[in-house]
Amino acid sequence: MELVRSIRSAERTISDMQIKGIIFDLDGVICSTDEFHYKAWKKMADDEGIYFDKEINERLRGVSRAESLEIILEKASRTYSDEEKTQMMEKKNQLYRDLLSEMSERNVTDEVRSTLEELRAKGLKLAIGSSSKNTAYILERIGLLSFFDDVSDGTIISRSKPDPEVFIKAAGMLHLKNDECIVVEDAKAGIDAAVSGGFASAGIGSAKDYSKCTYHLDSFSDVLAVV
Ligand code: BG6
Ligand code: MG
Repeated sequence: MELVRSIRSAERTISDMQIKGIIFDLDGVICSTDEFHYKAWKKMADDEGIYFDKEINERLRGVSRAESLEIILEKASRTYSDEEKTQMMEKKNQLYRDLLSEMSERNVTDEVRSTLEELRAKGLKLAIGSSSKNTAYILERIGLLSFFDDVSDGTIISRSKPDPEVFIKAAGMLHLKNDECIVVEDAKAGIDAAVSGGFASAGIGSAKDYSKCTYHLDSFSDVLAVV
């Protein structure tokens, strides 16, 4: 009974909070660049003879390039020097950027675009919170570089998700408190980061059914129902 009461009161606290800003992850939320990350790592791993599949790829969501490589190397049959690791990351990033270079405004769905516009019209502040160092390039390719109020990304953080640094910086840029923002994420590491930073969170895609999410989104436009 006590437990039920405390869960109810936690739900009430979250839904009563006044949400003033939304912090969106980029890869796998705003656009499907998560697929390109997979393709690029897969080619790099295949060329090296390292086993890699979509299940392992799930663990790479939200984490930095260097941490992603360490996860992939768990299946390697030998150890790699720091210099070799740097070369592998550069190769993956080049493959990835080749895929990004083909992107355009067409790579943002009508649903994402119209939802972002509706959120903006409601007066919400909107930011990106991504671990990627390619964030500005992607936003430029898809025509959203000047759309967001602020961008917090892999170029300004020292710890990637599940550390909350990228979201805390985004909230600071928006001049909002953490508990005035919702984080929208497709990565469990991203939801963990939101929880440890004191943010409400909305899971989508791979993170949709994650128990730690405040909200579970079937579709991007569902975010309109939680603000
Ligand atoms: C995150 C992705 O958005 O960015 C991770 O979910 C990726 O899979 C990370 O490793 C870093 O990306 P980049 O573009 O800096 O290699
Ligand atoms: Mg993501």
